Amino acid sequence: MIAYASRTGNVRFIISRLQLPAVEIEEGRTIGEPFLLFTYTDNLGEIPPRVKAFMAGSGTYCRGVIVSGNSNFGHRLFGAAGDAIARQWQIPLVRKIDMRGFADDYEAIRSYYEQCFRKELVG
Ligand SMILES: Cc1cc2nc3c(=O)[nH]c(=O)nc-3n(C[C@H](O)[C@H](O)[C@H](O)COP(=O)(O)O)c2cc1C
Repeated sequence: MIAYASRTGNVRFIISRLQLPAVEIEEGRTIGEPFLLFTYTDNLGEIPPRVKAFMAGSGTYCRGVIVSGNSNFGHRLFGAAGDAIARQWQIPLVRKIDMRGFADDYEAIRSYYEQCFRKELVG
């Protein structure tokens, strides 16, 4: 399962291409099973408030974070929401994607997803 947040549609576009189980993060939503988080980056490298609130409730189940940003913000701020979440929750930063990304980004996500949830099944 991928839990995602998208404001201007880039993350939503990628989710539609991946064809993996996914739910949009809505206010009050919690998840009680392992998932990957996919978020965009907000103002100057910030985690979107909705994503912060969601992680406060469900973060212990998060197995990795994928982030979309815009590389025009420069190295320090590009996708910095993903760096912050990975650090705070001690989880892998699976992929940092520039806007809608490219085919190799989608492959990397699929590959991690399969590896991650195969492991979960084996325990
Ligand atoms: C107000 C605003 C602030 C942003 N700040 C950052 C930022 O600090 N770093 C970054 O990498 N991208 C930043 N972005 C770019 C978005 O994270 C990027 O376009 C992302 O693909 C948006 O995903 P979405 O279309 O699913 O909402 C910002 C975009 C907006 C509109």
